[in-house]
Amino acid sequence: MTKILITGGAGNVGGALACHLVQKKGYQVVVADNLITGSVKNLPQGYDNFTFIKCDINNYNDVAAVMLAFKFDYVFHYAALVGVKRTLNNPISVLQDIDGIKNILNLSKNTGVKRIFYSSSSEVYGEPVEFPQNEHTTPLNSRLPYAIVKNVGEAFFRSFHKEYGIDFTIFRFFNTYGPKQSTDFVVSKFINAALNNQDITIYGNGAQSRTFCYIDDNIEATTRIFEDGLYLNDVINIGNAKEISVLQLAQKVIRLTESSSSIVHLDPLSEGDMTRRQPDNSRMLQVLNRDLLTIDEGINKILELKYSFSK
Ligand SMILES: NC(=O)c1ccc[n+]([C@@H]2O[C@H](COP(=O)([O-])OP(=O)(O)OC[C@H]3O[C@@H](n4cnc5c(N)ncnc54)[C@H](O)[C@@H]3O)[C@@H](O)[C@H]2O)c1
Repeated sequence: MTKILITGGAGNVGGALACHLVQKKGYQVVVADNLITGSVKNLPQGYDNFTFIKCDINNYNDVAAVMLAFKFDYVFHYAALVGVKRTLNNPISVLQDIDGIKNILNLSKNTGVKRIFYSSSSEVYGEPVEFPQNEHTTPLNSRLPYAIVKNVGEAFFRSFHKEYGIDFTIFRFFNTYGPKQSTDFVVSKFINAALNNQDITIYGNGAQSRTFCYIDDNIEATTRIFEDGLYLNDVINIGNAKEISVLQLAQKVIRLTESSSSIVHLDPLSEGDMTRRQPDNSRMLQVLNRDLLTIDEGINKILELKYSFSK
């Protein structure tokens, strides 16, 4: 059995990855998560090859007990404090995630982990300088604690590779949505409000644009990179390149849910709400060898899941 650790695996992306990997033959999957934003509802249910351990990755003793006991072959390090507002309001807690990165790297080195996959973020690009944002040519302009931690994290992975030969792949995730996402995030927040015919609130005029990647595209790409040994000791943007403004997203959600919600504009956020984001996702498209799901297809998939659960 190939032993895989997913930190933050009770979350949106990690939970989907865990549910995908447990269904494959030959994998033993362990999720370590402190449930700060994740939920046990996101975990695989009823699989003998799956274990959940409540654990704080930033606490060395906690994570050491897990990693020394299992001696994993591969680690997906996805645990992090997330969310624009939460990370701006808790800048010290965000910085403590550096401890978690060091814990994972040191314990991986000492327990024979073959490769670590690290969830970095589009936020490392900071305020946009060029579009689309390319892994190697776009300058990293990050200033906010969350983005700086991701940037520092990337530096740790490169340095551990250089000094100790630890293999890694850095995934720079761009906005990724799916049915397991908490309503702190824009797509699930809008869908939730629309289904309840409540106001949809937007910071500022809503002209800020985003690109949205449906979770299935993320999981297929990252699993293929893992299983086929691609982008070893390298970095890859994982995201959709099709831009849509936040206002257009709200209007689309209202249309697709046939909601009577109104759009209400709030004061713009003083920081952290970037004007644009757009990945150069040519590497990801090569990995998948197909088009990504459109935002309409992704929202409809979430709505189908919600309707089938409520029946
Ligand atoms: N979803 C996106 O759009 C997006 C974009 C860029 C980067 N990312 C990165 O991808 C990863 C997964 O994000 P997500 O969208 O699934 O968020 P999420 O909040 O759904 O998942 C994060 C998980 O980590 C757990 N966690 C946080 N701190 C922890 C700690 N110290 N110890 C143990 N568990 C801890 C949370 O409980 C949660 O289950 C994160 O590292 C995030 O920074 C996500």
